[in-house]
Amino acid sequence: MEKEWKSSTRQNYSIAIDGPAGAGKSSVSKEIAKRLGIVYIDTGAMYRAFGLYYLKNNLSLDSEKIVNMNVPNVIIELKNEDGLNKIYLNHEDVSQEIRSEDASRGASKVSVYPKVREKMVKLQQEISSKTNVIMDGRDIGTVVLPNATLKIYLTASVDERAKRRYKEQTEKGLNVNLEDIKKDIEERDYRDMHRSVSPLKQASDAILLDTSNLTQEEVVDEILNLCRKRDIK
Ligand code: DC
Repeated sequence: MEKEWKSSTRQNYSIAIDGPAGAGKSSVSKEIAKRLGIVYIDTGAMYRAFGLYYLKNNLSLDSEKIVNMNVPNVIIELKNEDGLNKIYLNHEDVSQEIRSEDASRGASKVSVYPKVREKMVKLQQEISSKTNVIMDGRDIGTVVLPNATLKIYLTASVDERAKRRYKEQTEKGLNVNLEDIKKDIEERDYRDMHRSVSPLKQASDAILLDTSNLTQEEVVDEILNLCRKRDIK
């Protein structure tokens, strides 16, 4: 009885941020988490780490049978160390490794399999049932947290997203081409929006926020305003 009372009156809230690649979801979510003092869950990082398991063990990501057989062997853990979000794959810190192009391609392949998504969604729901979270991804408002306190669909034009990525990459000293980046974004959008399981789409009760002409600070302010309207402070 005591347990039931506790869980039914707990006041956890959740903020769901979905949208295409390069819309600014992770930087905005990180900043909001900091301002509200809540946990930020990067679900893309979870799929990246999941895919990495197969790459590291030379297992095919093209065979659903092989992927499914190995799902029970993949352990993903999220930790906060000295204020930094870390992701562990089978007890190894892979926070840096998941940012490689190979890991990105691996994530894109592994995330289409229902058994993989089932395991990740369960973990994401478990975390959000214990604490206040802001979670970003592709299926948060539609599948993972259908009852989220606030749902945002963050987007920006393909041109703007390509320009942002180009700036980011050139600042890192990488030699990249704007047209190639644009093509890559268009392809990723198509894949994310047209896959059969949990495709990227705006939840019917999500608020659309086009960030094409907004600075990061303006986007953060706008979301914090929407949070206050839902009593999230
Ligand atoms: O956001 P990102 O680039 O880190 O995501 C990596 C891949 O994972 C990308 O191909 C989309 C996929 N993904 C997903 O299918 N569902 C999520 N909730 C988050 C990411």
